[in-house]
This record gives sequence, C-alpha cells and structure tokens, in this order.
Amino acid sequence: MDKFMIEGGRKLFGKVEVQSAKNAVLPLLAASVLTDEQVKIRGVPAISDVENMLKILSELGCKIKRTKDCAIIDGKNAVSHEIPARLTKELRSSVFMLGSVLSRFQKAKISYPGGCDIGLRPIDLHLSGLKRLGVQIVEENGYIICVAENLTGADILLDFPSVGATENIILAAVKAKGVTVIRNAAKEPEIVDLQNFLNAMGAKVAGAGSSTIVIEGVKKLHGVEYTPIGDRIEAGTFLIAAAVCGGEIEVEGISSENIAALLHKLRENGCKIHIKNDKIYLGSDGNLKSVDLVETTPFPGFPTDLQAQYSTLCCTASGTTLVVENLFETRFKFAAELKRMGADISVRDRTAVIRGVKKLHGACVTAGDLRGGAALVIAALGAEGESSVYDLSYVDRGYADFEYKLRKIGANIKRIHI
Ligand code: UD1
Repeated sequence: MDKFMIEGGRKLFGKVEVQSAKNAVLPLLAASVLTDEQVKIRGVPAISDVENMLKILSELGCKIKRTKDCAIIDGKNAVSHEIPARLTKELRSSVFMLGSVLSRFQKAKISYPGGCDIGLRPIDLHLSGLKRLGVQIVEENGYIICVAENLTGADILLDFPSVGATENIILAAVKAKGVTVIRNAAKEPEIVDLQNFLNAMGAKVAGAGSSTIVIEGVKKLHGVEYTPIGDRIEAGTFLIAAAVCGGEIEVEGISSENIAALLHKLRENGCKIHIKNDKIYLGSDGNLKSVDLVETTPFPGFPTDLQAQYSTLCCTASGTTLVVENLFETRFKFAAELKRMGADISVRDRTAVIRGVKKLHGACVTAGDLRGGAALVIAALGAEGESSVYDLSYVDRGYADFEYKLRKIGANIKRIHI
C-alpha cells in the first residue's frame, strides 16, 4: 500500500497534458472483441483499471501487446465467453464486456461487477436493454448468464440516461439484425467517442451526444487504429488543484465543451479562464469566492466525477456552498477526511453544506474511492503543512503519473512505498 507525502502551500505553474479518457478507453477495449482483426488504441493511460481490462481480454483469448502508450488487441483467437470473476470484482467497466462478448459469441457469463463503492450501482438498465434485444438472462449463484442466439434490433427507452447501459446496449446492437433505437440515452462525450470508434470499424451508429441513438446492425466489423478523446475528469482535477493552490496552468488535450459546467463554476469562483483550441488556461490567486449551489447531473451538467474535487475547492472559498450529489448515494465519504484537515462540512444523505474556512491544515487521511482520493490530494496541496494520503490504489485506478505531473507544475509530492 503506497501513500503520498505532500507539503502544501505551493502555487502551481506550467503545462499539463491530459491522458486519454479512462471512461472512453475502457468501453473501447471492451469493443475490441467485436472483431477478429487487430485493434490499436493509442494514448492508453497506464492506470490499473485499464490494465485489468486488458487482463480480462487476455483471459478471453485475445493477444495483447502493450507499450507505454498503445494497446494492440488481436481478437482472432478469442474463445471464451466467460468474463473471469476475479477481475470483474476489480472494475465496474467489466460489465461492458457483456454487450460485446454476447455479440461475438452469442453467449456471455459474468459475475456482478465491482468498482468504487460510491453507491448501489445496479445494472438493471443494462440487463433490461439487453433483454429487449432478445437476450435470455438467468441469474445463478452470483453469476449473470446470457444467451442470445439472434440479437435483434429494438426500440429501447431507458428509465435513466445511464452511461454504462447506453454503451452496453450499443455494443450488443452493432451487429444485431435490424435497427436499434436507444431513447433517453446518456449524452456523455465518451459515448460519442465510442460511436466514432465503432463507425471507424465499419459500424453504423448515429446520434451519440443526443438523447436518441440509432444503430443499424452490420454483419462484420474490421480492425482499426484509434486515438480516444482527452480525459475531462483528469483535466478538471488539475484545474481545480490550481484554482485552490493559486498559480497559472495550461491544460492541453481537452475540448473545453466537455467540461463547460466546471469552467462556468470556476469563473464564478473568481478564476481567470481562457480557451484556445484544445488548451484551457486557468489563473487563480487562491482567494476564491463560493458559489451558492452545485448539483451533479448527467452530461452536460456538472459531472459527479468532479464533485469530490470541487467540494474540496469549496472548503476554502469565502462563503457557503450547497453541494448536491444526484447520481450516486454514498459519494461524500471523503468529507470525513477533509474535516480532519479543518474543513467545515455537514453531510446529510446526498447534500453537503460546506462553509469556507481560511486554510486547511495538513493531516493523515485515507482515500476511500478514486475521485475522493484525488480530492484529498488537492486538499493537501492547498493546506498548510505536511499531509499523508494513504491507500493510493484508488487514485492509481484513474490517474497515470499523477505525482509526476503534479511535481512538474511545482507541487511538493512524493510517493512512499509502505
Ligand atoms: C459511468 C462512469 C463513472 C461516472 C458515471 C456517471 C465509466 C467507466 N464510468 O459509470 O465514472 O461516475 O458514468 O457519469 O464510464 N443506474 C441504475 N441502473 C443501471 C445503471 C445505472 O439505476 O442499470 C443508476 C446508477 O446507480 C447511478 C446512475 O444510474 O445512480 C448513473 O449511473 P451510470 O451512468 O450507469 O454510471 P456508470 O456507467 O456506472
């Protein structure tokens, strides 16, 4: 178990290049079993969620070549339709394998997926969507067993615009017979990226980014070389860090439209923001004013994956902020750790009331999930004195070279193996 030692109080200056989006790369990796030709994905971040997804593909029989930047998946000899339970427990996105494995083998077996403990995270919408495509599903001893002799297009209305359910249904429908329409689909940029990737493989998917997605089934998909979009959550994490610590940073490799909701709040907090092509410049003197309310909602609203980091910013902004988490039930676990650093936060159910204090102070804190872990790192960077952030296995799931990138812009942070 590693920890970060962080000496807070330094301003941040310089450039950060964002990695390819974790939440884009994972469904693309799942999609790679849809073809028996070679798939090359560039800019694949070295994070544990990605490495676990590659292990799943390898256990299905795919040949994997991994360089620092690229993943090459050759699915010619993929034979297994069973997604190994050991790895399914490690990451939530293993559930995307259902759609693509079903499409490839007409059957799939998976255990209930794991991932960060941020709420109930059911998969009922995934399963009911797959049923509409003709999949027969039996749940047995913690396993979900799916059989689909004839995947057939259908009109599917999602009760909620779930990102994962939208992606899973797209993956199952690309080679189904006929046309599938997903209504009330999720509109996240990573879904547009999945559409572009699949279309580059010969699929016929249209409408991603809007709430209606139309998929015309094709017989075969071919190999592809592809570079996924930049990580809006990583970009947002660095922007928030610079806003809290003060300084001037430029984040490169991200479309500002993909984090417009955060940029809007940061401007209200008093940060200077300029945008040029795929670069976002942020200047902050560290003296932020609070906004009244932040509510997480599906895209294009404020992302739940930036709620913890932004809550940290609210801790030292002048005034009171109400933060409402609408997506996940238990996504305020980091608040107890921030209190150890002097934050004034009251949480009730899905709402936090955060009263700004002048400064946080260093403390020993422990990450409880990926984005909560990033929030603690930001808090420690802005705090007076030294902090230890324990249990880095969470941040390692989503941020490649986190401490290296932070050091490059002036942070005093080191990783200690304990
Ligand atoms: C994805 C992202 C995650 C992000 C989330 C919301 C990936 C790998 N993960 O997760 O980082 O926090 O989108 O933007 O892309 N729900 C159901 N039934 C279902 C599915 C979801 O009730 O079958 C509910 C969930 O409990 C949650 C809400 O829908 O309350 C949103 O979940 P969803 O959009 O599916 O998130 P994920 O795909 O798990």
